[in-house]
Amino acid sequence: MRTPILAGNWKMHKTIAEALEFVKAVHGPLNDFPRVEKVICAPFISLAPLSEALRGTGIQLGAQNMHWEDQGAYTGEVSPLMLKGLCDLVIIGHSERRQLFGETDETVNRKTKAALTHSLTPIVCVGESLEQNRAGETEACVGEQVRAAFDGISAGQAVRIVVAYEPIWAIGTGIACPPEDANRIIGGVVRATLASLYGDAVAQAIRIQYGGSIKPDNVTELMQQPEIDGGLVGGASLNPADFVTLVRASAQAKGLA
Ligand code: 13P
Repeated sequence: MRTPILAGNWKMHKTIAEALEFVKAVHGPLNDFPRVEKVICAPFISLAPLSEALRGTGIQLGAQNMHWEDQGAYTGEVSPLMLKGLCDLVIIGHSERRQLFGETDETVNRKTKAALTHSLTPIVCVGESLEQNRAGETEACVGEQVRAAFDGISAGQAVRIVVAYEPIWAIGTGIACPPEDANRIIGGVVRATLASLYGDAVAQAIRIQYGGSIKPDNVTELMQQPEIDGGLVGGASLNPADFVTLVRASAQAKGLA
């Protein structure tokens, strides 16, 4: 069975002090759910203090982006070498980065390879826009994003990648993708594309999250879907009580609590 992975993507929220307060509030209650992987993806500036604060808590730390080069004249960027040792994971190709900061399928692929080289687990984000969804282009868009992200990546490396299916129209809107639809896209498009690239056994081993308006009141139904292996959560991950609820509900939905 694939170990569920519930990750909070804090985006551009929380000062260092607020980040440390959050850890104080959640680390005790989260001890009750050792069979779910728990991740906080925090702003760069909080990663060093959080890596200390999270030691021994069983909560993993992720970054929200990185450059693909180890070092160089790239003002304002952060390299995988700098994250290595501080973080366990890194979000790659979030739709906000694709839409607002010029991330492309090609840079997503480069960053994914760089993360793997430096033993960081990439959480690779894919998902269609509202226009693509309405035009019936979801399958083609998501399939192509997956193929591009995994281009040139071996089966042995592919199993270390986490994919997050985040339909853009569901992000921050309060309107989550209906659970059966999310299950269908994750199984029938994301996992099916991975199976076409690597075979069924590898595709079955890769974890695929859903993301987009996951809340305490819809998380159970989403996590009960067999193809959904966890969540990438924005807004609801900012509140400690909600984050604990999301982890608890995920553990229960998967029969792990
Ligand atoms: P929300 O949970 O706020 O919709 O954000 C989802 C997301 O973008 C996580 O990466």
